[in-house]
Amino acid sequence: MTPVRVPVQVPGAGYDVVVAPGLLDRLAEHAALPPRARTAALVTVAPVAALYRARVAAALESAGLDVRVMTVPDGEEAKSLDTLAGLYHRFAAVPLHRDDVVVALGGGVVGDLAGFAAATWNRGVPVVQVPTTLLAQVDAAVGGKTGINLPEGKNLVGSFHQPVAVVADTATLATLPRRERRAGLGEAAKYGFVADPAVLELLEARPADAVAGDPELLADVVVRGVAIKAGVVAADERESGRRALLNYGHTVGHAVEALAGYGTFRHGEAVALGMVFAARLGERLGVSAPGLAARTVALLRALGLPTGGLRLDPAAVWAVLARDKKARAGVRFVLCARPGEALVVDQPDRRLVDEVLRTLAGP
Ligand SMILES: NC(=O)c1ccc[n+]([C@@H]2O[C@H](COP(=O)([O-])OP(=O)(O)OC[C@H]3O[C@@H](n4cnc5c(N)ncnc54)[C@H](O)[C@@H]3O)[C@@H](O)[C@H]2O)c1
Ligand SMILES: [Zn+2]
Repeated sequence: MTPVRVPVQVPGAGYDVVVAPGLLDRLAEHAALPPRARTAALVTVAPVAALYRARVAAALESAGLDVRVMTVPDGEEAKSLDTLAGLYHRFAAVPLHRDDVVVALGGGVVGDLAGFAAATWNRGVPVVQVPTTLLAQVDAAVGGKTGINLPEGKNLVGSFHQPVAVVADTATLATLPRRERRAGLGEAAKYGFVADPAVLELLEARPADAVAGDPELLADVVVRGVAIKAGVVAADERESGRRALLNYGHTVGHAVEALAGYGTFRHGEAVALGMVFAARLGERLGVSAPGLAARTVALLRALGLPTGGLRLDPAAVWAVLARDKKARAGVRFVLCARPGEALVVDQPDRRLVDEVLRTLAGP
C-alpha cells in the first residue's frame, strides 16, 4: 500500500501525517528529520520498545543520527512532572541541542509527554510523532497539543508544539491489546458521526477485521480520521469553533471517566457511551435523524464497545459537567444531525438530559 500523506496546514508550521502499514523501517524517508540534527532522543515505553525500538533506531541511524533511547514508565502516570524532569536530565546529559530531534514512539501518553519535553527543551526542539496506538494515530499525535498531568488534574500543564512530521505505521496496531484497539475504534467512529460517514461504512462492513487489527482497513480509517482532524486543526489551531465538534461523545464521556474512576473505562469506551447518549438526546430533541441511536448502538456493539449497563446518577454527572473547564458558558452538547454532520446545542432541557442519562443503565 502506498503511503498516504495528509498535510496539516498550520500557519508557519505545516507538516505531513504519513499513514501506511510498514512505515517504521522507512521512517527516515518520511520523518522530515531536521537536516542539521545529529542526535535523536527516542522516547518510548517498555512494551513498545520491546516490539519496535530496534527497527526505529535502525531507521534513524541509517539517516546518520546518533540514537539515544529514553524509556519512561508505561501508562498515564508517566505524564508527570517527575518523568518530565527525568527526561530533561537525560536530554542535558546527551546534551540534546536545538537542531537535534525528539522522536516520540508510543501511544498518546508518550506523544504528550515527549511532545511537551520537546516543546520546552531549549525553548523548543523539533519532535517527530510516531504513534503506535489507534487513539494516538487518529487523534493524539495530530494537532500539536502536548502536556502532562498534575495531581490536581489531567493535562493541566501543556503547550501547542506542532511536530515536524507524524508517521503512523498501521501495522503496529496489530500488537495492541485488543481492548486498546477497540477503544481506538470508538474514537475513530466519532469522525464518522461528525464529519465523514465513510468511516462508519468502513467499520460497519468489517467490524471483526477492524477489531483484529487489519492494517489496510485501519489505514483507511486512520487516513479519514486524520484528514478531518487536520482540517479542523488548520482552520482553528487553538481550540474553539469547529474543533469543538470533535468533542462529540466527549462531554458525557469525560463525566463517565471521572465518575467511574479514571482507569475503569478506556477513554474510547467512555466516548462510546457518550455517543450513545448524544444520539439518543439528539433524537429526543428532534435534531438527530431517527435511527441514529440504533445505528450507533449496532456499530459500537459490533466493535465490542460498551453501549449500556451503566448506572449514572444524573446529579453527579451535572456536577462533573459544571466543573469542566470548557463549561464556562453553561453546558453545551455536541450532537449529530445525521452521520457526517454535527452541531452544538446549548443548555438542553435538564430533565430530558437526565432521562437520557438513565437509559444508559439499559442493555
Ligand atoms: N494531545 C492530544 O491531542 C491528545 C488527544 C487525545 C488523547 N491524548 C492523550 O493520550 C493519552 C492516551 O493515549 P493512548 O490511549 O494511546 O494510551 P497509552 O499511550 O497509555 O497506550 C496504551 C497502552 O498500549 C501500549 N502500546 C502502545 N502501542 C503499542 C503497540 N503498538 N503494541 C502493543 N502495545 C502498545 C502502551 O505501552 C500502553 O500500555 C492520554 O494521556 C490522553 O490525555 C492526547
Ligand atoms: Zn477523545
